[in-house]
Amino acid sequence: MRFGLGKKPDSLPNFKSGDLDIVDWFPWPLCVGIVTELPLSVDRSHNQFDLVAPLYPALEQCVFGSHLNKARRAFFDAVVHADRVLLVGEGNGRFLTTLAACKNKGCINIVEKSAVMIRLAKERTRKLGGVGCDLNFIKTDFLEYSPADKFDCVVTHFLLDLFNPPAQRTLIKRIEELTAPSGTWINVDFLPARTVRGGILMRLQYAFFRMASRIQARRCFDESTAAAAAGWAVAETISYLGGLVVAKRYQRAPVPAAGHDKPNRTW
Ligand SMILES: C[S@@+](CC[C@H](N)C(=O)[O-])C[C@H]1O[C@@H](n2cnc3c(N)ncnc32)[C@H](O)[C@@H]1O
Repeated sequence: MRFGLGKKPDSLPNFKSGDLDIVDWFPWPLCVGIVTELPLSVDRSHNQFDLVAPLYPALEQCVFGSHLNKARRAFFDAVVHADRVLLVGEGNGRFLTTLAACKNKGCINIVEKSAVMIRLAKERTRKLGGVGCDLNFIKTDFLEYSPADKFDCVVTHFLLDLFNPPAQRTLIKRIEELTAPSGTWINVDFLPARTVRGGILMRLQYAFFRMASRIQARRCFDESTAAAAAGWAVAETISYLGGLVVAKRYQRAPVPAAGHDKPNRTW
């Protein structure tokens, strides 16, 4: 059991230890009520994720165990073997550290809006000693980032699910502009829940991050529609937590051959 709130009483039947046991018995409705009623007293001048940055890994571990980390490592080989890699909204550098430890060439550019997240990511990578590729930390809003060269692989982990569809479209269009023609984009996000339990968990999570980090979205939106509109096609998909989290590797959709009405999607 991952959450430090005591054990489920033996009197409750059908208890099985495993993934998301907490969802079975945790008083989610009470928590949703408490969280949504809390005053929104966070100073708006702070970067949205500065406040939660130090707690973020512990919170995640409590609720989701190691599942989100596994999802972050989906398609890891594609990232390691890409020459120029861009991590957008990387957070405190957990994925970056794993990647930097394995990468022996090229560069990793890290674009992150939160100063605290960037500091934590730098501290983590410093502990590695030396790394075999160039690391470039850029503290800025992704939409204001204008690099000289395009990237072979762009990675977004739990970034797009913070936004409503219009903002997702803007971010995804920018990802497309910064990706080399034969490049790939790897996205890992929560998807809208398909079960009541998943729905309650997501509601609680969004309520918390809206209060603590002022995220834009009130609920989760699948980025697939915006991705397709920007010319991306899904090459591979891996689901986690019963489909609550999905990792997708995107490539550019093939341009339809002249005279054909429909694109020939072979992925
Ligand atoms: C939910 S956290 C996810 C962090 C990390 N990718 C992970 O998997 O744990 C979202 C991160 O994206 C950053 N972020 C949000 N909007 C951004 C933007 N427009 N440009 C750059 N970073 C952004 C936040 O500061 C935060 O660190």
